[in-house]
Amino acid sequence: MSGEGLIAEPRAVHQSVGHARLKELMHRGTEFLGCEVAIMGGAMSWISERHLVSAISNAGGFGVIACGAMTPELLDTEIAETKVRTQRPFGVNLITMHPQLSDLVDVCTRHGVGHVVLAGGLPPGWAIEKIKASGAKLMAFAPALALAKKLMRSSADAIVIEGMEAGGHIGPVSTTVLAQEILPHVSHDIPVFIAGGIGRGEAVAAYLEMGAVGVQLGTRFVCSTECIAHANFKKAFLRASARDAIPSVQIDPRLPVIPVRALKNREMEKFSAKQREVADLLDSGQIEMAEAQLQIEHYWAGALRRAVIEGDVETGSVMAGQSVGMVTREEPVAEIIRELVDEAAAALESRG
Ligand SMILES: Cc1cc2nc3c(=O)[nH]c(=O)nc-3n(C[C@H](O)[C@H](O)[C@H](O)COP(=O)(O)O)c2cc1C
Repeated sequence: MSGEGLIAEPRAVHQSVGHARLKELMHRGTEFLGCEVAIMGGAMSWISERHLVSAISNAGGFGVIACGAMTPELLDTEIAETKVRTQRPFGVNLITMHPQLSDLVDVCTRHGVGHVVLAGGLPPGWAIEKIKASGAKLMAFAPALALAKKLMRSSADAIVIEGMEAGGHIGPVSTTVLAQEILPHVSHDIPVFIAGGIGRGEAVAAYLEMGAVGVQLGTRFVCSTECIAHANFKKAFLRASARDAIPSVQIDPRLPVIPVRALKNREMEKFSAKQREVADLLDSGQIEMAEAQLQIEHYWAGALRRAVIEGDVETGSVMAGQSVGMVTREEPVAEIIRELVDEAAAALESRG
């Protein structure tokens, strides 16, 4: 479905002062991404594949493929299949701890992917250089002001601030606090996208007014018609409220695990058992810390797959952000984007 005219060439109903103001506020973001609306579909492992990514880009937003634990061959196919479905720009999200990161960057380069998002910790210098040398724009996550400045010095092209309201792996600080801490100091020098806890356009408008050039949403797109997540996964989203999306608990201080926000279910108990098992291997010297962390990440990838693909929402991980309570029906991506745009425009217009 084409999203042409969402804010660029509005139809009668969209010809409002609010839409014009929104277009202005998103201008740096849309220029940077090469799309119509500076709304990124945050990469979600197993979920952000060819169908959802192309639907978001075709609707005027910016889809991002989640590489997750894919091999270079699988990523190659996913990018090729996405290109078949959209002529518009989309990005690829790579996890820095992936053992074949360099090969994955090569795959993106071969396909001429315009934007690479590096997730999962501060990106290594060689990866930044390699991506930039390919001509792609590099985006990375800044979980604190000092890290945002460090990324600017390392010549990242844009940063994403993601607060702890988000679904999936999270940091300890909320989106609103990160936005206040980081935006005033860097937003003039580098485009900043805000993620985590955004469910409605009013919040999009507010972050743009604070200096962001765009936003990134994950949770809101899970129940889109085009999303391939299992019906059980979508049903769990439709039933849940904000308080059901809780962070995982770290049970052993010697094993620092990045918390994951997901809907509470029996899987949470399994994760505690997994942490104990990995902590024991670490204690007995059978594995090093890096291997321990990789085992935890593989655990998550498997648990998320069980829920998303197989529909096992009891013992699989139903990763979801706190905005899950604002997901009330299954609808096409283009509708979701249009709602967000109209809500943001109405909020801006009401400022007078
Ligand atoms: C099910 C799920 C899986 C996710 N997987 C990834 C991932 O593989 N890589 C990544 O950088 N972010 C991942 N995220 C985070 C999203 O890209 C996005 O930043 C986040 O969902 C935004 O917050 P929101 O959920 O409040 O909209 C995931 C989020 C969810 C809900």
